[in-house]
Amino acid sequence: MTKKRALTGIRATGELHIGNYLGAIREALKLQSEYECLYFIADLHSLTTNKDPKALRAQSLDIAASWIALGLDTSQHLLYRQSDLAHVTEFAWYLSCVTGVGYLQKAHSYKDAVAKEKEVNHGVFAYPVLMAADILMYEPDVVPVGKDQKQHVEMARNMAGSLNALYGENLLKIPESLINEQVMIIPGLDGRKMSKSYDNTIPLFASPKAVRKKVMSLVTDSTPLEEPKKLDGTSVGELFQHFASTDEYQDLKERLAAGGLGWGHAKDELYQAMEGVLAEPRKTFENIRGDENMLGKILSAGRERALAISGPILEKVRSAVGLPPSPTR
Ligand code: ADP
Ligand code: TRP
Repeated sequence: MTKKRALTGIRATGELHIGNYLGAIREALKLQSEYECLYFIADLHSLTTNKDPKALRAQSLDIAASWIALGLDTSQHLLYRQSDLAHVTEFAWYLSCVTGVGYLQKAHSYKDAVAKEKEVNHGVFAYPVLMAADILMYEPDVVPVGKDQKQHVEMARNMAGSLNALYGENLLKIPESLINEQVMIIPGLDGRKMSKSYDNTIPLFASPKAVRKKVMSLVTDSTPLEEPKKLDGTSVGELFQHFASTDEYQDLKERLAAGGLGWGHAKDELYQAMEGVLAEPRKTFENIRGDENMLGKILSAGRERALAISGPILEKVRSAVGLPPSPTR
């Protein structure tokens, strides 16, 4: 029996942080035993905001190395660069032509850019269409994403529905989003959602010293050392829960509740728990990131396999809409 397929992408923008890891990467990696995984670096999506060519190149490789360091088995699964399969933009066009402007104006990514008075270029507006093409072109069964991307996956499902309604109900497969409700939104240093745009992140592979400094700066209340404290519902608790065992969490919770333990101590325990999980992958990351040759080979093997999947699907759509087969394929 052929395995079900999972697909997800991460934009190459800035350093990966703990929110990206817990909200997206870790969940996606758990699917490896059950699914054929197609994980890619969404570098075309990065261009909506990232106008620094050197940074885009470096950050794309950072993400590729991170996936591998965190456990993506590229002998079984696919890791590729979105831009290496540029026909995704052609596919996006077919979706654009069945997607209303009013519908795209409802996208959180667009509304957010308008509200924050960020640059609203056409790429930002068309972001969900390109993302739908990323997904539909590979016919995945599931799309593991963080909660904030649910709407985009929903839009992809609707675009597939529009194309199917026009050209044949079985043309495109309609995937499901896969969201671990337990992970939800990871809080950042200031208690808001951890995000590059809020400058409140804990970088995934920064030096232990830098990570510790960030962890120690997590905002807590100012309950004096000797007084009882509640771990549940705090940012420290939320993060600790993802890196420690249930018993360890319970233990810290009880010691804080008993009084006499300060937030500084709790944060130090959080840092130790994080190191326990991330120290090994950090070393692997540094080794892999240093070998761009090898990374290039892995990405180009991923491209070949991704092409074998998406090529026929693109041809199917071209034919359905009334275009001749691609001249180059
Ligand atoms: P950022 O908000 O820092 O720009 P991205 O939008 O690039 O992060 O997110 C990449 C992936 O990581 C997405 O799938 C997103 O759902 C997930 N993610 C990012 N921040 C968080 C967070 N604080 N909690 C949970 N998941 C997150
Ligand atoms: N939009 C996603 C983000 O900002 C990245 C992304 C691009 C993606 N294409 C995708 C995620 C396809 C899942 C599937 O994080």
